[in-house]
Amino acid sequence: MANIFEVKDLKFKYKTNQENVLKGINFQIKEGEIFGFLGPSGAGKSTTQKIIIKILENYQGNIFYKGKDLKDYKQDFFEDIGVSFEMPIHFSKMTAMENIRFFQNLYKKKADVERLMKRVGLWEDKDKMVAEYSKGMKIRLNIVRALLNSPTMLFLDEPTNGLDPANAKILKDLIREFKVSGGTVFITSHIMADIDQLCDRVAFIVNGEINVVDTPRNLKIKYGERRIKIEYKENNKIVEKLFSMEDLGKNKEFLNTIKEKDIETIHSGETTLEDIFIKVTGVTLDEKQ
Ligand SMILES: Nc1ncnc2c1ncn2[C@@H]1O[C@H](COP(=O)(O)OP(=O)(O)O)[C@@H](O)[C@H]1O
Ligand SMILES: [Mg+2]
Repeated sequence: MANIFEVKDLKFKYKTNQENVLKGINFQIKEGEIFGFLGPSGAGKSTTQKIIIKILENYQGNIFYKGKDLKDYKQDFFEDIGVSFEMPIHFSKMTAMENIRFFQNLYKKKADVERLMKRVGLWEDKDKMVAEYSKGMKIRLNIVRALLNSPTMLFLDEPTNGLDPANAKILKDLIREFKVSGGTVFITSHIMADIDQLCDRVAFIVNGEINVVDTPRNLKIKYGERRIKIEYKENNKIVEKLFSMEDLGKNKEFLNTIKEKDIETIHSGETTLEDIFIKVTGVTLDEKQ
């Protein structure tokens, strides 16, 4: 697959910063993939997204979109992309449909709004004022907005943040459908469990630097450790023990445990992307923000 984006030695500093917020990052996004940009709050995810969608300028390094320098694109670039920001912004005193029409008029290419609004379950509520929408509805409206111009590439900044499981599923299904229809996706998140199964490749970013870029599968093979968790009762207390699956049949402690203890549960667990992130970067993710 060809690269749709190439980012080379990207450095960036906000005017008020002493140090670079991005310290020379490199990555490529392949055409047709879902590329995850993962890291804790303050790592530089939103800043990177803003730079590669041409909202922040004055960066150092080189960025190529479809083989051409990003700096040489004008309005044509915005016709080609769809964006959802971390904080959804709508006109709250207008109806959802009035919002959609307003934003759709900014583009030459126009998607089928009725289909999109039905797809996200908002068609019935299309004439309600956005002020009356719940948070989940606003986020779904935001994704419709990102798709208004039938973009070839989607940029989603923390799209699952604060979403309940039902809304998160709608969003993830939409992202997968977008990919199946040929689209490319850049998605940032500090909540890895949300996008673990969604991304074709992920980059780990911490403190303005990228540690790793790989497929979740390769990362799990390389850093993952398959383990068994056993819980047993001892002196009226539940005791938890972890065993590596390597040579389990020869592990005396494991064999003694299952022979002698009063077992309550046995589970085998795959290493999650989050476990790997912590292992590779040494940084724990803050899930509260
Ligand atoms: N407008 C701004 N002015 C100055 N510093 C900023 C601005 N926006 C973000 N930062 C700083 O840049 C760093 C990266 O922020 P950001 O890209 O928003 O991180 P993330 O999206 O990974 O949480 C943080 O230290 C943040 O405080
Ligand atoms: Mg952010």
